[in-house]
Amino acid sequence: MTAIDPERLNHRLEEFAAIGATDKGGVNRQALTEGDRIARRLLADLAIKRGFAVFQDPMANLFIRREGRRGDVPPLLIGSHLDSQPTGGRYDGALGTLSAFEVLESLEDSGEATERAVEVVAWTNEEGSRFSPGCMGSMAFSQGAIPDDWADKYAADGPRFADELQATLASLPQAAMRLLGFPISAYVELHIEQGPSLEAESIPIGVVTGIQGTRWLEVVVSGQTAHAGTTAQAYRRDPMRAATHALNALYDAVMPGDEAARFTIGRISVAPGSINAIPEEVRFTVDIRHPDPAELDRIEAVVVARIAESADRFGCSSRTQRLFDMPPGRFSPDILQTMDRAAAMLGVKTKPMLSGAFHDALFVARVAPSAMIFVPCRDGLSHNEAEYVEPEHVATGCRMLASTARLLASSV
Ligand code: GLV
Ligand code: MN
Ligand code: MN
Repeated sequence: MTAIDPERLNHRLEEFAAIGATDKGGVNRQALTEGDRIARRLLADLAIKRGFAVFQDPMANLFIRREGRRGDVPPLLIGSHLDSQPTGGRYDGALGTLSAFEVLESLEDSGEATERAVEVVAWTNEEGSRFSPGCMGSMAFSQGAIPDDWADKYAADGPRFADELQATLASLPQAAMRLLGFPISAYVELHIEQGPSLEAESIPIGVVTGIQGTRWLEVVVSGQTAHAGTTAQAYRRDPMRAATHALNALYDAVMPGDEAARFTIGRISVAPGSINAIPEEVRFTVDIRHPDPAELDRIEAVVVARIAESADRFGCSSRTQRLFDMPPGRFSPDILQTMDRAAAMLGVKTKPMLSGAFHDALFVARVAPSAMIFVPCRDGLSHNEAEYVEPEHVATGCRMLASTARLLASSV
């Protein structure tokens, strides 16, 4: 039976962590940057060396294919993403992508033939931190089209989305072009839990049954810029005062009231940004999560109303725009059952769980049976440079992925 090579995989994780490495041991390899392109090229080169076929689609999703006995049936897809948060860790995305590649290599090492072809995918811009929304690659794949309004999105560091996408595609001429979206038999993604429960319960594998919903909003509160020293209270229309007033109330209301709710303000900017001027405008993002779609609606309505009220109270105005709406989703019971079989074969303990983070698998699940495997990460810490996964958990996760993939690719 084919065995994965945990040393090779842990070495690969090191190799990729060096691309965009930060001083604090993490990774800054945001989507469609030079670092992202270098990582894609490295993976493509490794694949070509092993004799696998390499493809990309118009969203720069990268595919690596190992043929099966039957060329006429849709392939099994396994993978994750190679882009990172600005102060991200080494495992978020890279673990699933490189483990999937390890599965392909280990099949090749042993000469094991599968009925279906197995393909590794590295989805474009899962994180959504440089260009919003997240999961652009898998979203476009599942819709079979790139939404028109993405072309003119601008990154905080300046470039336009369509230009960065073109440059990324051009940086990988060795990948043959494919159309966007094609039939697949199933999709399986390995990922770190990004939360504390597996570690706390000493369980090496989470079988992910579904993902909670996410809403992203962008809020602009507008007032009037004026002199910080001469403008008395009665004359101030200060959007910072309005924003902080609203946010204080929302921090007190949203999460303390509901254990399942998440409310995060991750980005804020102030214009004109002068030490001695009342701002003209405060702009911030809101990230709301909940497993229940009705609660997502309710929280969003509370957020919008609260900001409007505070803006009004301080002589300002506000506008809120939705950037991203990912409804909660459930994974395929068939694939979950296959994962249970794989775990039983390997003799590893698992637990069913919901994902707090969103993932590409949620979009792929719209077009093919999909599911995810989680492994523990230290202190549940992620989207942080200190993110860490024990090598033995890396190996167990990859073994689970390999066994699941083998079961799914061996029947047509
Ligand atoms: C994914 O990175 C998320 O924010 O859930
Ligand atoms: Mn991820
Ligand atoms: Mn992430």
